Amino acid sequence: MTTQPLLQPVRLGALELPNSVVMAPMTRARAQNAELAPTDLMATYYAQRAGAGLIVTEGTWVSADAIGFVNVPGIYTDAQVSGWAKVTGAVHEAGGRIMSQFGHVGAASHPSHLGGRLPAGPSAVNPGEKSFTPTGPKDTLTPRAYTAAEIADTIADYRRAAQNARRAGFDGVELHAQGSHLIPQFLNPRLNRRTDAYGGSGEKRARFLLDILEAVSDVWGGDRVSVKLSPGWTSGTAFTADEETLADYDSLLKKLNDSELAYLHLLGTPVAAKRNAVFSRYRAHYQGNIVANLGFSQEAGNDILQAGIVDAVSFGAPFIANPDLVERFTQGHPPAEGNRDTYYAGHTEGYTDYPAFAAN
Ligand SMILES: Cc1cc2nc3c(=O)[nH]c(=O)nc-3n(C[C@H](O)[C@H](O)[C@H](O)COP(=O)(O)O)c2cc1C
Repeated sequence: MTTQPLLQPVRLGALELPNSVVMAPMTRARAQNAELAPTDLMATYYAQRAGAGLIVTEGTWVSADAIGFVNVPGIYTDAQVSGWAKVTGAVHEAGGRIMSQFGHVGAASHPSHLGGRLPAGPSAVNPGEKSFTPTGPKDTLTPRAYTAAEIADTIADYRRAAQNARRAGFDGVELHAQGSHLIPQFLNPRLNRRTDAYGGSGEKRARFLLDILEAVSDVWGGDRVSVKLSPGWTSGTAFTADEETLADYDSLLKKLNDSELAYLHLLGTPVAAKRNAVFSRYRAHYQGNIVANLGFSQEAGNDILQAGIVDAVSFGAPFIANPDLVERFTQGHPPAEGNRDTYYAGHTEGYTDYPAFAAN
């Protein structure tokens, strides 16, 4: 079993991983304090999972304007930076490596997260999503369109978050550009109807991401920066992949070769039979490191690495109930099932109380 590709070391930019198993970013909504600061409980949770080759944190707000979900931590205040320093310290102490994932939900937020203000997005088009508010899920509204000054301010927020992530002792940063977040809203021709430098063609719709990438890479060096993208995403009324949007992503992947990133984190497809073909399409356009994600089992992860299509594989849900996932892969122990009721809410239960494998 020791020859499993998942257990082999891999270099991703400036990051040396002892194995090829990445813990995918997962919002767990445990920052239950007014400051939205990471807690000691969160430090325990991440340190328990330090056997991963690399941990990517939950999506973390780059500013108060970025918020769109309850009890999710930020990285824009000193209290938040201090909380994150405890998390990175605990993970490093346990022998791990950890990236901060930067999130911003843009138009997918709700006034109840923003002191009553209307969310802003690339254009005044409702993404038709749900926002998880303190009083339950609410439908999104038609947002305001970002002004040019707000775009510049938002890029500056990402730069400041990158500086904060350095102060907090992270090993690098990943941009959350997947799902229905702000960056993919800019990439989406249905939501981005702008006619300035940030909309009007696939290339211009990508500029927001590329400008943020430049700001963050200025702080970190590209070889400690990553982007998570989901070209096939389907959600709300605006996110459906078609030939036009997939072709836009092909071009974006080509363009991202220039950024010399640590890795691109890419969602494939839930359809197992098509998985390797989807990643082969990405590989045809992107020559840097690819971390593959979505629905991988140990076997499928070993298979795609063996085929040489990608460089590492990330696991999300499997890390919830298996803090020792890499050890289970090593020993051939079966994975435990997590309780979905505590994925996004609760305290220690379903968070830090999953044990390592023990033979009965
Ligand atoms: C509870 C939960 C929270 C998630 N939160 C985030 C997040 O904050 N940022 C992100 O990029 N993806 C998030 N995801 C998606 C995962 O990173 C990953 O893409 C997805 O779970 C598919 O991988 P898996 O099949 O191995 O679970 C989340 C997934 C789960 C299950």
